[in-house]
Amino acid sequence: MSKKFPFFKRKKEEVPDLEYEAVPSHVAIIMDGNGRWAQNKGLPRVAGHKEGVHAVNRVVRAAARANIDILTLYAFSTENWKRPKSEIDYLMKLPKQFLHIYLPEIMENNVRIETIGEFDALPDHTKNAVQNAIDKTANNNGLLLNFAINYGSRNEIMHAVKRLMNDIDSSKVTLDSLDENLFSNYLYTNGLRDPDLLIRTSGEQRLSNFLLWQSAYTEFWFTDTLWPDVDEAFFYQAIEEYQLRKRRFGGL
Ligand code: FPP
Repeated sequence: MSKKFPFFKRKKEEVPDLEYEAVPSHVAIIMDGNGRWAQNKGLPRVAGHKEGVHAVNRVVRAAARANIDILTLYAFSTENWKRPKSEIDYLMKLPKQFLHIYLPEIMENNVRIETIGEFDALPDHTKNAVQNAIDKTANNNGLLLNFAINYGSRNEIMHAVKRLMNDIDSSKVTLDSLDENLFSNYLYTNGLRDPDLLIRTSGEQRLSNFLLWQSAYTEFWFTDTLWPDVDEAFFYQAIEEYQLRKRRFGGL
């Protein structure tokens, strides 16, 4: 899917291969480096998470302006439960904090909120805040802001296999009809196209159990910037880098 991206400052002749007309449809981000951002400033780790909330809004705003279809943000992984309870408690309050400040802007920008992950296992106060935002934004038809909360790819694939086997047992699905497309329907991302671009901040170069199935042909962009320092210009730079890539999907 190609979309016009009106924010480029660079001239076509400066970078002949740049495809000015194509923005990625689905961008996924591993928001990393909150703790180090805080530690660098002599602050407690949670100060980095608090600041990271504002970076989320800057990126959502940029993605909406750039006409991106889907923005998937890794907010809490199934492995993050291993952190100290005080930090987990803080992380679980972030969606409410974010929505308290930014839901009006999200509505103005016609953004729809959804989640992927094991939603039911979240604390009630987190679920309520997020569900309220899902309901309020349900009729918006601009950017889909997809929070991965309590998400892990292996957990997602295991759940998919179990539900699929149930459906095979009850003859809702036949083994012969099973293909990659049908399997994808059992994932949390059912119905969403695969990410075109996956960004990870803070210099780490790994997927950390994020969208393993879905990122088979995704372009990766790793950058040293720490998440709380991310702004609109950062996001547009990532889009520009993406547009310099040649995607072949295994072909020539
Ligand atoms: C990774 O940094 C970040 C997280 C585990 C939490 C991500 C959450 C936010 C960016 C806040 C916004 C969330 C919502 C839902 C609005 P880290 O703590 O692993 O950093 P470190 O690697 O430097 O320790």
